[in-house]
Amino acid sequence: MKTLFLLFVLVSCDQLASRGDLEFETQAPLMVETEVSFTELKEKVLAPNRCLNCHGFLANEEEVLERVEPGRPELSILYILLESGNMPLGGPKVSDEDLAFLKVYIEQLDSLDE
Ligand code: HEC
Repeated sequence: MKTLFLLFVLVSCDQLASRGDLEFETQAPLMVETEVSFTELKEKVLAPNRCLNCHGFLANEEEVLERVEPGRPELSILYILLESGNMPLGGPKVSDEDLAFLKVYIEQLDSLDE
């Protein structure tokens, strides 16, 4: 699913580049990662990393929002705990990919507020 989407983006970039539209070529890959819904965060990061096994409240968007600082992952307790490896308790640490996903989720909350 994700691979297919990336492939689509790559192909689109290729077509744009051949039209000489280089500005779009550099922006398209960014757009792929700038929107993460709470449901996606839950299904791709919180559930697979067993967070929900120990914290039922993390299935609730409001509870998660109470543990993040919109737009500032480095100040968000949720991000800090995962980045430092303190959560999930007992390990293993979440993957860099999952961490990046959480980061995008927190960063884009800022723009949603405006
Ligand atoms: C094996 C059980 C376990 C797992 C798995 C686990 N935690 Fe925790 N977590 C704890 C315990 C125990 C504490 C400390 C006591 C408390 O505050 O609930 C804690 C504390 C926390 C806190 C701070 C307390 C709060 O209510 O805000 C957060 C945030 C948190 N965990 C998030 C996560 C996330 C995100 C994951 C998945 C990556 C995760 N945890 C996985 C057991 C777990």
